[in-house]
Amino acid sequence: MKILLLGSGGREHALAWKIAQSPKVEQLFIAPGNAGTAQVGTNVALSATDFDAIGRFALEQGIEMMVVGPEDPLVKGIYDHFRQTPELAHIAVIGPSKAGAVLEGSKDFAKAFMKRHHIPTAAYETFDGEHVEEGCAYLATLKAPYVLKADGLCAGKGVLIVPTLEEAQSELRSMLGGMFGNASSRVVIEEFLSGIECSVFAMTDGKHYVLLPEAKDYKRIGEGDTGLNTGGMGSVSPVPFADKAWMKKVEDEIVRPTVEGLAAEGIDYKGFIFFGLINCDGQPKVIEYNCRMGDPETETVMLRLKSDIVTLFEGIAKGTLDRCTVETDPRAAVCVMCVSGGYPGHYDKGYPITGAEVEGSVVFHAGTAIKDGRLVTAGGRVIAVSSYGADKAEALAKSMAGAKQIAFEKKYFRSDIGADL
Ligand code: AMP
Ligand code: GLY
Repeated sequence: MKILLLGSGGREHALAWKIAQSPKVEQLFIAPGNAGTAQVGTNVALSATDFDAIGRFALEQGIEMMVVGPEDPLVKGIYDHFRQTPELAHIAVIGPSKAGAVLEGSKDFAKAFMKRHHIPTAAYETFDGEHVEEGCAYLATLKAPYVLKADGLCAGKGVLIVPTLEEAQSELRSMLGGMFGNASSRVVIEEFLSGIECSVFAMTDGKHYVLLPEAKDYKRIGEGDTGLNTGGMGSVSPVPFADKAWMKKVEDEIVRPTVEGLAAEGIDYKGFIFFGLINCDGQPKVIEYNCRMGDPETETVMLRLKSDIVTLFEGIAKGTLDRCTVETDPRAAVCVMCVSGGYPGHYDKGYPITGAEVEGSVVFHAGTAIKDGRLVTAGGRVIAVSSYGADKAEALAKSMAGAKQIAFEKKYFRSDIGADL
């Protein structure tokens, strides 16, 4: 089979690495990819949101399946574009329709969906620019800290957690006043939940689902989860508290009602559902939905997925996911992300990278490029090292050794991935 994967981050390198292992793959293309994806397939210099160019390429190359890595093309409707273009309609697209991607594209939609289907989540209200005072009054009924979320996509920056009512009210005014442009024309205010987070991943064909190994990601830049939020500094799988009993609750109260709710509402959804959960005294609650895999969770989940991912994708495309099983590697996996100094603030690019072949670990490129024949940094998150271990401590030790070996100017990584669990 000829497969086209869209995206260019560490998630896509991990997906490409796993897809390339399938004996069913004849050729794998990645658009636009990075220096790492070029090791396991052929990069194509096309933007993942240039639907016309992607469609033309797919036809020229005889692509049979397209896997969509990031949310952007999904929220913009790439699935619908392929379905509605007669020459492209035969190509299997792994990723939901535009209507399904709204689960990630609109926080207000996601919250209302959960309310309709009795899925456990934080209490909330949504306000627009005409109801600022009502929003301020609602804030006053909540306890600190206050959680404010821009309704639309903000590249991970749209959530504010503020300590005092005064600040929360002032932030609400700024958000509704256009702080994140159109994305914050509506703001979800929700109850603060405390607990440890866990990312759960399902693949669905719209009717059936399978679960992939769960993982936890580490979003803050600093050790001990301090400092600014990033795209993700590392991940660990499995998550110890996500045991059989907890995962049964997750399936019964969250995953199944979500898949059934999508079907009941007539939403075409054939792809990944990422459940961002929080464990509130043993009760899993949904913090957010995403319509794609997590990054950097994919960099550990793919290590622990033993089944052929292309067989699972075929199950999604054909609606036969109930006949597929997911086999999981019992070992632990830990991913440590090496980032550019200064990230998530200002950082420089173009520094040469050496030592990127790590024996006994799997290296996934995130922001890398080849310049004048040399591997160089090309983003904030640069390169990730993922390792297996008998337990998370052993996996972390291996990934840390790898992260130390990889060298580029102003490299930084966290050494406490998984240590809180
Ligand atoms: P989101 O983009 O909705 O995942 O929010 C980003 C991060 O903010 C989450 O990963 C949580 O760490 C935190 N967060 C979001 N909503 C809440 C909440 N209701 N209570 C506590 N923390 C939250
Ligand atoms: N790791 C969180 C995300 O991908 O959104």
